[in-house]
Amino acid sequence: MNPYRNWSVRRDDERIAWITLDVADSPMNKLSADVMTELATVLDDIERYPPAAAVFLSGKEAGFVAGADIEEFAGLDSPDKARELVARGWDLFNRMAGLAYPTCALIRGHCLGGGLELALACRYRVVVDEPATRLALPEVMLGIVPGWGGMLRLPQMVGPAAALDMMLTGRSVDARKAKKLGLADECVPARVMHNAARATVMSGRPARELPFWQRLLNGPLKGVVARQARAQVEKRAPQKHYPAPYAILDMWARYGGNALAVPANKPTSLDAIVASPTTRNLVRVFFMQERLKGFGKEADFQARHVHVIGAGTMGGDIAAWCAGRGMTVTLQDQAIEQIAPAIRRAAKVFDRKCRGDKLKSRMMLERIVPDVDWRGVRQADVVIEAIFENLEAKHRLLMALEPMVKPDAVLATNTSSLRIEDIGAVLNNPTRLVGIHFFNPVAKMPLVEVVSAANTDPVMSRRAAAFVKQIDKLPLPVASHPGFLVNAVLGPYMLEAIRCVDEGFAPETIDRALTDFGMPMGPIELVDLVGLDVAVAAGAALTGAGTPPKRLSELVAAGNLGKKSGQGFYAWIDGKAQKGTAGAVPDGLTQRIIQPLLDATRRCVDQGVVADANLADAGVIFGTGFAPFTGGPMNYLGTRLAPARSSRVEAAPALPRAA
Ligand code: NAI
Repeated sequence: MNPYRNWSVRRDDERIAWITLDVADSPMNKLSADVMTELATVLDDIERYPPAAAVFLSGKEAGFVAGADIEEFAGLDSPDKARELVARGWDLFNRMAGLAYPTCALIRGHCLGGGLELALACRYRVVVDEPATRLALPEVMLGIVPGWGGMLRLPQMVGPAAALDMMLTGRSVDARKAKKLGLADECVPARVMHNAARATVMSGRPARELPFWQRLLNGPLKGVVARQARAQVEKRAPQKHYPAPYAILDMWARYGGNALAVPANKPTSLDAIVASPTTRNLVRVFFMQERLKGFGKEADFQARHVHVIGAGTMGGDIAAWCAGRGMTVTLQDQAIEQIAPAIRRAAKVFDRKCRGDKLKSRMMLERIVPDVDWRGVRQADVVIEAIFENLEAKHRLLMALEPMVKPDAVLATNTSSLRIEDIGAVLNNPTRLVGIHFFNPVAKMPLVEVVSAANTDPVMSRRAAAFVKQIDKLPLPVASHPGFLVNAVLGPYMLEAIRCVDEGFAPETIDRALTDFGMPMGPIELVDLVGLDVAVAAGAALTGAGTPPKRLSELVAAGNLGKKSGQGFYAWIDGKAQKGTAGAVPDGLTQRIIQPLLDATRRCVDQGVVADANLADAGVIFGTGFAPFTGGPMNYLGTRLAPARSSRVEAAPALPRAA
């Protein structure tokens, strides 16, 4: 009889204790308070008859350990509770690190946050060489710090440069990289993983030590390294908005990686982190992301073959993205000459992605089959049209397509401005048409809007969301409404920014105002990127504004369309906007430009474009990069009115049916 709820211990003939974590009633392993308390008991029990060695492993298909239980962070409302939570892992993993017998973590699949900190407390780590094996300390993305020994042990193991890179960005490494960095002792195929763990833990090898110069950087020269790292962080994340990376640096450099040692009155203390609304908001953003992923789990639908029609900017990149995710893609256009540039673009992307592995990159490229004879349509599980934004052209195409598409396949349009109802009007069965609206550039934008018309079959919307999740994007269900959510909120925001140019503000100053606010890119640069002609058309459609702003009209009339023509509000050289110096940002400018975005978001919620305010926040953050530390526009509006708003996220509702 196993006396534990989440753990089990088996001793073999060599007296190795195999300690398996299989958290009860959960698809993945999370280190909740309950699981950690039980681990302490497991260690107590084992110590009564000390084993020769111990191997920690997972009983879950999904991976090793996904991290601490983030639900528990959401409830952290006082510094005392934060200290208690940190102390729980810090003490327990210090105890593990000091065990007299050798220990090894056998890591297959994800090993994140507290999971990696558990592994770091073992003497050895064996990783399984599979794409799903990823090791990371992503705490910084939640506005918190790896306080369970990560800040102490990761730099000792891989040196401060690699460790700070992982801790300050949250970036993960795969199994091979982990071995190369010295984070893993062995990197092995799954079939030999148990033997490798056994051999490693019984090897008697001393734990890995850093080379001398790395020990200097992690010792007397910490201050220098920290200053350089801080300068890098300042470029990306100002301290007033993002305290966690600064706390990580300080805790590592001055407090031995011990978050509990920082005095409460310091700006890098746990107390300061808990008090910052950023932490609450970023945890909230994490749950929003989980909620979006959840929409992809509502249908049991697996696409193997995608057929994309229109090999232009969007179609070509959608095809490449799907092929990169393992799908067979047929890419249709009117002639092979139209498809060739998309294939060339994909080849470059794959070469970069596969970093010199020619065979791998070739295999990806071979998954994209140029198709001018409509051959792929009949086999495809998902058909996406991404041809010109022209209703008649789309009608002609869909009428020809409909009889060929498999009855259970998803039939989708990537339209950005036409109503799904209007596009589907020519179909015998208009209820099967759904919008799958990708954003440009496809490879960079995490969000995809799944657009349902009033009459769209919900089964098809759910399948579309499942497909979006399958290709590692975040599906956001939206109603068929002008601009859906993301363009509907960006339109008025960009328009207001352009009006400010007409009033004499320098584009640089406007952009600076908004990047200081926390936007990833200023609105004027964004307009240049989208294309000034597109902005004129969208402006008329989305904002109802009659005449476009003067400067915008002049630029378009002169053929200056932004990045694509080399000149817009800025000159563009080698893909970069050539900016002059920004002036001082006058009071009220930021708020003036942000306000139309906030108002538009509220309108979308009121009009039912998205099901609720939380989804609006999620959509605007993941679709536009809207400053994540604010928790999204609706949350920002709410906190401006009532700072102590609850940060909980409601359970995921069904897909919205209608506008
Ligand atoms: P694009 O002009 O770059 O490419 C359109 C492609 O469709 C061209 O290669 C053209 O030869 C092909 N095409 C036209 N009629 C065709 C037909 N009957 N059969 C086969 N191929 C045909 O256009 P882009 O920018 O890629 O836009 C495509 C769609 O994606 C539009 O509906 C647009 O609204 C939407 N969209 C565009 C975004 C953007 O930033 N460009 C962002 C999100 C959506």
